Amino acid sequence: MNTKKCYAKNYCKMYSTSKCNERCDFWWKLNNIYNKSNLPVRYRYDIPLRPELSDRQSFTQLKGFMDNVVERVENGDSLYIYSGTTGNGKTTWSSKIMNMYIRKIVAKSDLEDEVLYLNVSLFVEAMRNQYSEYSDDIATLKERAMNCKLLILDDIGAERPSEYVCERLYDLINHRYTNMLSTIYTSNLTPIELGDRLGARIESRVRSAEQVKLVGADRRTV
Ligand SMILES: Nc1ncnc2c1ncn2[C@@H]1O[C@H](COP(=O)(O)OP(=O)(O)OP(=O)(O)O)[C@@H](O)[C@H]1O
Ligand SMILES: [Mg+2]
Repeated sequence: MNTKKCYAKNYCKMYSTSKCNERCDFWWKLNNIYNKSNLPVRYRYDIPLRPELSDRQSFTQLKGFMDNVVERVENGDSLYIYSGTTGNGKTTWSSKIMNMYIRKIVAKSDLEDEVLYLNVSLFVEAMRNQYSEYSDDIATLKERAMNCKLLILDDIGAERPSEYVCERLYDLINHRYTNMLSTIYTSNLTPIELGDRLGARIESRVRSAEQVKLVGADRRTV
């Protein structure tokens, strides 16, 4: 085991001590939950974000959700993080919140289907293929997306899906909404623009989420 690769290295008190060894139960649990989470590796480690003046209030709102993430997920609260600008922290913030949730719940014994990350375009593509060629893996992924405690739907509305895919997306969003399961959406569209693209039924459910708008510049290249 390579402890340097530990996902908890920024916060584990045992990191780099004699107790940091291959018998660490948390290391195995964290690896297991991250492998199942589908969260891209880049976003599993802490990425420090600094707000521009115009985003300070939004950062405070997002930090508030993150600091109370276990309660917020228990309540089934959702977030819609959006911005017309690329590269200003939407995916990073959604991941930070998921990372904090994992950190808080990792000691639990049953970690099946707690968290899942989906890039909506890739998921939509998989569902399109499912229509012509059934796959058990996609059916399982869809089942997990339906029922996990915390789901990230990253970049929703990035493309205009077919009627079939819109319906499947609606089934997913509606199932989570009616079962009070937390979803963090990120998007380059306002809720109204999302409605124009994916339909009023999806918009209406997404609107019940707490909305956070980011207006800062693209920082990806800085
Ligand atoms: N406020 C910030 N402070 C410092 N770095 C930032 C900030 N916002 C973004 N970055 C940097 O930009 C990178 C990209 O951020 P992220 O992937 O979260 O953007 P995004 O808003 O999801 O973009 P897109 O709309 O293209 O999906 C981050 O990994 C980080 O390095
Ligand atoms: Mg993004």
